[in-house]
Amino acid sequence: MLEKLAGLDKEAQAIIAALNTIEELNEYKVKMLGRKGEITALLRGLKDLSPEQRAEVGKAANEIKDKLEAQFNSRANEIIRRDRNIKLQQEKIDVTLPGLPMQSGSIHPLTRIRREITGIFTGMGFTVEEGPEIELDYYNFEALNVPKHHPARDMQDSFYITDEVLLRTHTSPVQVRTMEKMVPQIPVKIIVPGTVYRNDDDATHSPMFHQVEGLLIDERITFADLKGILMQFARKMFGADLDVRYRPSFFPFTEPSVEIDISCVMCGGQGCRVCSHTGWLEILGAGMVHPNVLKYGGYDPEKVTGFAFGMGIERIAMLKYGINDLRLFFDNDKRFLEQF
Ligand code: DAH
Repeated sequence: MLEKLAGLDKEAQAIIAALNTIEELNEYKVKMLGRKGEITALLRGLKDLSPEQRAEVGKAANEIKDKLEAQFNSRANEIIRRDRNIKLQQEKIDVTLPGLPMQSGSIHPLTRIRREITGIFTGMGFTVEEGPEIELDYYNFEALNVPKHHPARDMQDSFYITDEVLLRTHTSPVQVRTMEKMVPQIPVKIIVPGTVYRNDDDATHSPMFHQVEGLLIDERITFADLKGILMQFARKMFGADLDVRYRPSFFPFTEPSVEIDISCVMCGGQGCRVCSHTGWLEILGAGMVHPNVLKYGGYDPEKVTGFAFGMGIERIAMLKYGINDLRLFFDNDKRFLEQF
């Protein structure tokens, strides 16, 4: 039996050295050392031997088993290493080629401006509110003191879904929605960024655009508070040295109403193409909240007063960055967007 074992050992060594793939190697390993393998079969014959012989042959068989096992492993490693080298030689990598530049994204200019605007107001204690883009006629017009058939509705050419439901034409409906939620708490001190819709489409108007609304209601709020807060906003947004002027205007939901201009950011007020040679740029509408609107929101106009304002984010961005066509914001042209 010892001879037989030695013969098997020699044979196996030669074969292992000659095998060339991992698959062949595994197959042969099973054939030799597996449960039905040749060595195992041989060991089964041990029971017919005398105890001394059994010990001797058993020891030799185990040694051979261990040796073969080690040989299988080392041959496997050889094959793996060889295959890897072949692969490395075939794969021709030119490490001197320039790499593919990683394209990094950037914040959309409108997002940047929206964050900047809300950041200035939250810094002054305002909190951010939101409202639905599909709005009831009631909140979009009625509760803002614009009754049905009022001519002021013509200022906002609207997309109606039904007679009573439309795409909101401004963020102002969130004024009354928030008042209803908060009444009777004071102050109501909110900023409302959001998407709005109107049936308009040209270089300075888009059917979908963005506004930021503001509302401050408290005891003894006056026009002086409006001026202080909005002056602070304009200077933080456009620069500390600009001038602000207030022009009388009309909105149904404020009384009195104003339009706020800043001295032209392009020419410093000298007059240029951007400001149509007036030296001034209109940035927002504002006013003291109309008593009827306070009533719609559940507040008593004898006890509290407030001011409100609304501005277009696209317009602010166009002025701040010197962009002359609003449609650029929505074309998704990377050459434009990359600049911010
Ligand atoms: N909602 C107005 C618009 O879209 C803007 C506006 C004007 C909002 C005056 C206000 C305000 O809150 O007081 O044209």
